[in-house]
Amino acid sequence: MAIKNIKDDIEKILIGEERIEEIVGRISAQIDEYYKDRGSRLLLLGILKGSVVFMGDLMKKITVPVEIDFMKVSTYGSGTTSGGSINILLDLYRKDLPNTDILIVEDIIDSGKTLSYLVEYLKLKGAKSVRTCTLLDKPERREVDFEADWVGAVIPNEFVVGYGLDYDEKYRALPFVGVLKPEVYNI
Ligand code: PRP
Repeated sequence: MAIKNIKDDIEKILIGEERIEEIVGRISAQIDEYYKDRGSRLLLLGILKGSVVFMGDLMKKITVPVEIDFMKVSTYGSGTTSGGSINILLDLYRKDLPNTDILIVEDIIDSGKTLSYLVEYLKLKGAKSVRTCTLLDKPERREVDFEADWVGAVIPNEFVVGYGLDYDEKYRALPFVGVLKPEVYNI
């Protein structure tokens, strides 16, 4: 039996590799500008798992000194929807939060619940500042009022995978963001 090519499940490429490179270049330059001359420590905080590819590319382009860490949260709700209440599965443990500027790195904002919760949570924990950046933003799906500080691309309400984003844990390793064929998840 022939091995299935994962790209056959993609209907179209929404954000190709060149555009991703432009986005990473633009956002890293804006982050450099914003955080230059700060005396505190800058922590890039990736939210597992979707952010890892974007975070890996972004941290290589940022030139101000950065440290990295990760959190993992879960939301109730399954399949092609997200939302519900938030559970912290992997917390951030750090002693010097009052001297730490946190920049949360996300792959996508849908309802906005994850990031609005995490920003408040990290401020309450004592971080000096908490800002957010996301590769993708789907404003049509918003359920709470939330805007990220840096956004790579605003996208329509389509089921996207690749560059960290999954469906059923697959497709994360694709180097682009693509729209999944409906027959893949309408089974
Ligand atoms: C996705 C994404 C964000 C969140 C956004 O994570 O990475 O963390 O959902 O949704 P919201 O704006 O509606 O809160 P997911 O729970 O799919 O986990 P994953 O990153 O491990 O795929």
